[in-house]
Amino acid sequence: MPNKLDSLEKILLMGPGPSMVHSSVYAAMAKDTIGHMDASFIALMDAIKEQLRALCQTRNSVTMPMSGTGSSGMETCFVNLVEPGDAVLILQNGVFGVRMADVAGRLGADVDVLEFEWGTPVITDDVAKALGKKKYAIVAVVHAETSTGVCNPVEAIGKLVKDHGALYLVDCVTSLGGIEVALDRWGVDAFYSGTQKCLSCPPGLAPISFSEAAIAKLKGRKNKVPNWYLDLTMIINYWEGNTRAYHHTAPINMNYALYQALRLILQEGTDKVFERHKDVHDRLVYGLDALGFKMYVKESCRLPMLNAVVPPPGVDEAALRKRMRQEYMIELGSGLGPLAGKIIRIGLMGETARRENVNRLLSALRECL
Ligand SMILES: Cc1ncc(COP(=O)(O)O)c(C=O)c1O
Repeated sequence: MPNKLDSLEKILLMGPGPSMVHSSVYAAMAKDTIGHMDASFIALMDAIKEQLRALCQTRNSVTMPMSGTGSSGMETCFVNLVEPGDAVLILQNGVFGVRMADVAGRLGADVDVLEFEWGTPVITDDVAKALGKKKYAIVAVVHAETSTGVCNPVEAIGKLVKDHGALYLVDCVTSLGGIEVALDRWGVDAFYSGTQKCLSCPPGLAPISFSEAAIAKLKGRKNKVPNWYLDLTMIINYWEGNTRAYHHTAPINMNYALYQALRLILQEGTDKVFERHKDVHDRLVYGLDALGFKMYVKESCRLPMLNAVVPPPGVDEAALRKRMRQEYMIELGSGLGPLAGKIIRIGLMGETARRENVNRLLSALRECL
């Protein structure tokens, strides 16, 4: 019987994630699996918590990876913090803000959505007005909106949320490892991310972090967390303390991979890593401009790692992406929702964010056009 794995091709991943993975991360994944209660695995878990605290600039004790992709991080934050009837304000300007409202609504929250045009950032004055009209338990926003390439002003929103007295929940799935994430300085109470974007690790884990205020809300719940698998009151007993209690079998080899991916980032130095993302982004924008592409998002709020671009007039974006994949082995992303068919999403995340990759893409596009 033919082995399906033999027909997998080597693709340059320049879409919205997953991103390229360093060979040492693959090597880490291939190490022998050990037991999830083994002392050396527990030592590795503790090391991962320290690495995440360093990368997220937080002292939160509850900082660890959840088993599951970025969406499991989103669910973890909402399911542990929302109690039925809680007023939750979602600041929405893309697909992942829409998903947040869906998740919070399913938990019986009283969800209000403050909408902003896709491709533009959240306007802090509008947030201040909304917070003046009603008392919220939680305010949630996406830092790097992967569906549009917009960076939201999370630090400024954090100040408003703190004054209001709500918990601040921030999605850093696409931002973590590509631009600064400073949880304590921004006043973030619940954070989640994913491994497959700028951490350059295959999809499968979702780093999360909860502040003391968030843990106090969790401990003060009237009812049990309505999801067994993501219940932090139990999972904390596996990830913290002198004696660890089994909850579910941790994805051991994924944690090896995450440890190595975080090690690479911290060894290179976060400032250098962020500069590298900015450098390749600037090169890409310059090169695309010469080919007649237009950036969809204003320069002041553009993400370096996710570039939403409008193809030159007369160019069919789907056909272009298909050719890139079939002839040049380069994966690019399509637009989502109202942006489907209008934009191409070019990811420069983690290991993908290298000058040689930008050069390869630009010369492929030049040939095609
Ligand atoms: C901003 C953002 N939030 C959440 C998610 C969901 O992550 P996943 O697809 O890994 O479940 C994504 C995935 O693209 C994302 O970009």
